[in-house]
Amino acid sequence: MRPTQTPRTYRVKSFGCQMNVYDGDRMAELLAEQGIAPAAEGEDADLVVLNTCHIREKAAEKVYSDIGRLKREDGTSPLIAVAGCVAQAEGEEIMARAPSVKMVVGPQAYHRLPEMIRDAAAGKRVTDTDMPAETKFDALPRRRRSGPTAFLTVQEGCDKFCTYCVVPYTRGAEVSRPHGDLIDEAKRLVDAGAREITLLGQNVNAWTGENTKGQAIGLDGLIRELAAIPDLARIRYTTSHPNDMTQGLIAAHGEVEKLMPFLHLPVQAGNDRVLKAMNRSHTVESYLRILEQVRAARPDIALSGDFIVGFPGETDAEFEDTLKLVDAAGYAQCFSFKYSPRPGTPAATMEDQIPLAVMDERLQRLQAALNRHQLAFNEASLGKTCTVLVERKGKHAGQWLGKSPWLQSVHFEADAAVGDLLEVEITSAGPNSLGAVARMAAAA
Ligand code: SAH
Ligand code: SF4
Ligand code: F3S
Repeated sequence: MRPTQTPRTYRVKSFGCQMNVYDGDRMAELLAEQGIAPAAEGEDADLVVLNTCHIREKAAEKVYSDIGRLKREDGTSPLIAVAGCVAQAEGEEIMARAPSVKMVVGPQAYHRLPEMIRDAAAGKRVTDTDMPAETKFDALPRRRRSGPTAFLTVQEGCDKFCTYCVVPYTRGAEVSRPHGDLIDEAKRLVDAGAREITLLGQNVNAWTGENTKGQAIGLDGLIRELAAIPDLARIRYTTSHPNDMTQGLIAAHGEVEKLMPFLHLPVQAGNDRVLKAMNRSHTVESYLRILEQVRAARPDIALSGDFIVGFPGETDAEFEDTLKLVDAAGYAQCFSFKYSPRPGTPAATMEDQIPLAVMDERLQRLQAALNRHQLAFNEASLGKTCTVLVERKGKHAGQWLGKSPWLQSVHFEADAAVGDLLEVEITSAGPNSLGAVARMAAAA
């Protein structure tokens, strides 16, 4: 299309965390409401939204190569909007470096996309990285579509300022969405077919609100209310911060049946000096104590975490402490990363940046340990009976894929449909997935 035409088709590509996936879906809904249709698979779109992530180096580089790749053989480009956290952090630089980008829109401003598209279609280049007082959520269309699993952003932003992290700068301060809006959005998602909802927040367990009686409640209160929605079968939440892990939320794991036995609780490192330099404001011991309490409330809970290796100044002995923590915690799965200096964060200018080769070696050792734990956790599921939520068809005829309560991927053959809750027996276990045989339809 030529730059002066209104786009008829769009494509949204999201990178990074689940909240970006949620935002990407909301942008798609907003564009559809404007009469812009999703581009068919394999076809050129008139408008492309790159919904970017800034958490680690390669993420930003990927954006520039994606922009380059959007150029067509005849030299034209679609109308390109860069959204998400790179847009927020490096909007000006993107505008200067990539002339084919016509719109830069931050994570708190994307409800303004329709006006921006009108301006861009008229030949202007527009940037909106405001963090406006009005919330984007009020301006977004109501939810009408959902698969069997859905994300629901309940909290956004971060006030924790870990010294390595860009999120407080790209997403802004901690804000909780109002209770009534969340119950409403959850009900609409369930009406549209969601059986499982994952509550999202950069610090989801920092969510606070007021219920209809005017009482102050935390995330556990919200979870208890959502559990009362009859056709909602499963509730999950992510990502939590150890400091916001309240006794109420821990207790909910033992009391709310629909709350799945899974907790993602990032720790980042296993040494108190490193944690302090990271400004994590918890210790190894206080973290392990939380895991102990959660296990007491829900003995079968699957635990997950995030780790960074090679934070500036991390010694070999301090890294060994991370391996010890991994063994002490007994994770079901984890994410681990090499430290990446982010512009504007305090850690980026700290002394003793760790050489890449050292980080590579540490990451390999850490991942070997984490993989060992993950396989052991999966093997311990052998012979168990559990319920899976059927998410999609598998590769072979008659094969389906779903998730166990512990977030393991399970494949099985059955007479099933997407959205079914099926009882299965686990018959094989690999590092990344389980095999099962169907038993009978579980009561929803
Ligand atoms: N709010 C969440 C996670 C946000 S980012 C929390 O605090 O737990 C997701 C993960 O990316 C972090 O947990 C951390 O492990 C990793 N991460 C963040 N900044 C990073 C950096 N500069 N380099 C490497 N990994 C980083
Ligand atoms: Fe980043 Fe720390 Fe906030 Fe998590 S808690 S988003 S790691 S600053
Ligand atoms: Fe990335 Fe922003 Fe999420 S930096 S991880 S998209 S909050």
